[in-house]
Amino acid sequence: MFGKRSAGGTDPHSGAVIAPAPVQPPKPAAPQPALADAPAHVPTASESGRAPLPAAGLGAALLSPPLVPQKTAPIVATDTRRSETYYEVKGTIFGALIEAIDLGQLARLDADAAREEIRDIVNEIIAIKNIVMSISEQEELLDDICNDVLGYGPLEPLLARDDIADIMVNGSGTVYIEVAGKIHRTGVRFRDNQQLLNICQRIVSQIGRRVDESSPICDARLPDGSRVNAIVPPLAIDGPALTIRKFKKDKLTLDQLVKFGSISQQGAEILQIIGRCRANTIVSGGTGSGKTTLLNCLTQFIEDDERIITCEDAAELQLQQPHVVRLETRPPNIEGEGQITMRDLVKNCLRMRPERIIVGEVRGPEAFDLLQAMNTGHDGSMGTLHANSPREALSRIESMITMGGYSLPSRTIREMICSSVDVVVQAARLRDGSRRITHITEVMGMEGDVIITQDLFLYEIMGEDANGNLIGRHRSTGIGRPRFWDRARYYGEDRRLAAALDSSEVADDALSR
Ligand SMILES: Nc1ncnc2c1ncn2[C@@H]1O[C@H](COP(=O)(O)OP(=O)(O)OP(=O)(O)O)[C@@H](O)[C@H]1O
Ligand SMILES: [Mg+2]
Repeated sequence: MFGKRSAGGTDPHSGAVIAPAPVQPPKPAAPQPALADAPAHVPTASESGRAPLPAAGLGAALLSPPLVPQKTAPIVATDTRRSETYYEVKGTIFGALIEAIDLGQLARLDADAAREEIRDIVNEIIAIKNIVMSISEQEELLDDICNDVLGYGPLEPLLARDDIADIMVNGSGTVYIEVAGKIHRTGVRFRDNQQLLNICQRIVSQIGRRVDESSPICDARLPDGSRVNAIVPPLAIDGPALTIRKFKKDKLTLDQLVKFGSISQQGAEILQIIGRCRANTIVSGGTGSGKTTLLNCLTQFIEDDERIITCEDAAELQLQQPHVVRLETRPPNIEGEGQITMRDLVKNCLRMRPERIIVGEVRGPEAFDLLQAMNTGHDGSMGTLHANSPREALSRIESMITMGGYSLPSRTIREMICSSVDVVVQAARLRDGSRRITHITEVMGMEGDVIITQDLFLYEIMGEDANGNLIGRHRSTGIGRPRFWDRARYYGEDRRLAAALDSSEVADDALSR
């Protein structure tokens, strides 16, 4: 019934085997008084110019996946700024440690054993070098050093926090985080850009890539699924820039979005119905506005018996259904070969007998293939794209197709959009940091050369409270019968749809009284 539709229609041990770990000759072990008079910085292995790649020997251990599961890292205040002296002492101990241990052997120990070994050696170094520290300073330093040797260094405490959505490192001295929709600067810093670069290397080496002057941009993933982008000098002028979108194991559900006020209860019902009744849906929004989260929510209402194929750049979606095939694009290798684009995936999944195709992010010519899939019996297909309004989303699709090299008249492309896309759901991160669903908009059809859309549900900003938080409400626009009414009826959801639309109007009246 809702198969092909006509164009122009109406829209990541052994026993203690630390190798002979002779602490380096305590050369002229001039007694070092207190922390304040700590010795000059001793370069670490990597700083002293040992090439981190190819992975061999020390380099290999530094580049191997961290032994410490990130979650075990202690949570420390992220705004603790430490003194220069601290970093100098740490540098000295770190340097001596690196020379004293066999990182290859260390890599074979489990996290706890490795930590114990490091603790023993660090304590020895502190004793030999006669560094005066309190027990708590020593513990803190030990945590720090373990994070450097076994994990992602200063990033560990941030990675261990669940409330952080994004971590943005702009060179060794500046680290920002996003918490609850707001960006904050932290006191976290790296020893120097070389340490940061080593951490970038460690991260990307896990996916067989490297990041250096000759290949300065790299997308990668942490073992826990977090999405990482690294761009290093000379492209990044002030030192390596590392951006991490933390992976949330427990993805938000539509109910939680209602709890957070991202959408009203009625709006959530309308979204459920859209998901259930196989409306082709585009989720639009700016960077970090919650598109992927929303797409994941929409997929929760897909029936268990449907065959779903997902195409993503980095697998973020967590579909609960049993019959799901997950596909991921592949960047070109170091020689620039072997790339598999989103378009390759979308095209291929058409040969995999999908019932629904879910595209993580549409950003190029795959838009054409997705529209075609939506139009040829894969109802209920979905995708996200970057745009600031539903209208802009539609014109973005058009320009992605045009730029993809298809020589189709723009009217034809628009007709194709109209006959394929049913609903655009707009997500936004507002200036107070809150994330809201601001539009549920239907694609109606064409009038002349123009695509006609109809807002079904909107978020209206009404003011601001004393704390600078926006006050607003979700309301229906009074459209009694959306264009996907028949479809809702076919799936037995028409009453629920009518009730949700009606009651948000009632809520509207009540609020305005
Ligand atoms: N409605 C919401 N309320 C609170 N937090 C949210 C909401 N939606 C998403 N988030 C959180 O915001 C962060 C970004 O979400 P998400 O990855 O879905 O954004 P995105 O738009 O897909 O980003 P990108 O453009 O980088 O792909 C995540 O940590 C997510 O848990
Ligand atoms: Mg996303």
